[in-house]
Amino acid sequence: MTKGGGKKENAMWGGRFTAGPAAIMEEINASIDVDRRLWREDVAGSKAHAHMLAAVGVISDGDNTAIQKGLDQIAGEIERGEFKFSAALEDIHMNIEARLKEIAGEAAGRLHTARSRNDQVATDFRMWVREACDNAEVALEDLMRALAEKAAPNADAVMPGFTHLQTAQPVTFGHHLLAYVEMFSRDASRFADARARMNENPLGAAALAGTAFPIDRNATSKALGFDQPCANSLDAVSSRDFALEAMAAASITATHLSRLAEEIVLWASPHFGFVNLSDAFSTGSSIMPQKRNPDAAELTRAKAGRIIASLNNLLIVMKGLPLAYSKDMQEDKAATFECFDALGLALAAMAGMVRDLTPDRDAMKKAAGLGFSTATDLADWLVRELNMPFRDAHHATGAVVAVASERGVDIADLPLEEMQKIEPRITKEIFSVLSVDASVASRTSFGGSAPVNVAREAKCWLEKLKMENS
Ligand code: ARG
Repeated sequence: MTKGGGKKENAMWGGRFTAGPAAIMEEINASIDVDRRLWREDVAGSKAHAHMLAAVGVISDGDNTAIQKGLDQIAGEIERGEFKFSAALEDIHMNIEARLKEIAGEAAGRLHTARSRNDQVATDFRMWVREACDNAEVALEDLMRALAEKAAPNADAVMPGFTHLQTAQPVTFGHHLLAYVEMFSRDASRFADARARMNENPLGAAALAGTAFPIDRNATSKALGFDQPCANSLDAVSSRDFALEAMAAASITATHLSRLAEEIVLWASPHFGFVNLSDAFSTGSSIMPQKRNPDAAELTRAKAGRIIASLNNLLIVMKGLPLAYSKDMQEDKAATFECFDALGLALAAMAGMVRDLTPDRDAMKKAAGLGFSTATDLADWLVRELNMPFRDAHHATGAVVAVASERGVDIADLPLEEMQKIEPRITKEIFSVLSVDASVASRTSFGGSAPVNVAREAKCWLEKLKMENS
């Protein structure tokens, strides 16, 4: 006989069974180690369901009272760590119901009227993901605040802007940080959108077909904070797109976080030297005493792997599943919990790092002048002052850069005569546009990196995020 096969049958469906599960069946079947995290939602869902059953007269007020008291007691036991979770009882729903039976006796057996674990788990899980979206939004707003607070005093801190990680044009540190504020604000709105779409109540769909009992799905929806009941019972128990959508938002957020993390790793390297990370967000090396490692940034960068993998995990579980419920769907929670655990950590670590980092304005400015970063300003001057077509100006500027490069100097340090050999109409006025400060100051187009723009944008974000302007 297969090991464990002789055990007592399961109390929840014992009627049809003469033997209990094989040990390995119990092991593969149990989800309690993962879904115990749904206990709050499960208690709330059961309480709402029992109240509704009593209100429509399916159970007596006395039974409802016993159920409510029992569930409150169970919540206290779990909260205090006294509750004994059992793998034999498979999941959080049956663990709680079994305990309720011990406490409330026959009344407990009436709780599962007009309900199935299929709509129960779909409801609990939706509530959990809904809260995860809310938490992500709050954490994103905190990160945005940290970035905008750092951007405001650095609206005029010139740094090199890169394309292909090659020096492109000077920008400011504040402008760079605010680029991430824009990204994270879209991420926050993606969580809000996902939340709004998922906020429908599966409870009452029962196993898959609805129920013959005269339930009031609007009442449970209201009690559990849902906007309305899911309109189709099959959809209600089979869909996990709410979790997929939330994880898609998490994956995009993680991608943004990983890009900022990568930049912090680069900036903190002595070869860039653009920022200093605080001790609180650095680690040392056990062998190299000089090292300050940006571990929090590296781990944030790596968390994106877990988060994106979680989304893929659930997409692959769900693809090709026939309606309605299949046990495959039990695996939804491990993926989703892992995703949001990693996201929460990464967001908090990033906000901490950003708050703590100190930009080295001199180092950034020095770097901003390297690599002929104001060459476009020279070309623009030729266009503006000499009415040259931009393509010709580009060509002439390329020639100026070639001469400067040959001489090993910046274009701002080339003698005027050298430039005039290339384009005789160039005057000494050209030098007014060749400094990195002049370059950023000139970028006043809407959304451009001019310090006036950046200061205004930082202020605007801080106000939006309800903070004092710093
Ligand atoms: N533990 C299950 C899950 O998380 C609960 C639903 C079980 N439903 C069923 N028909 N076996 O998916």
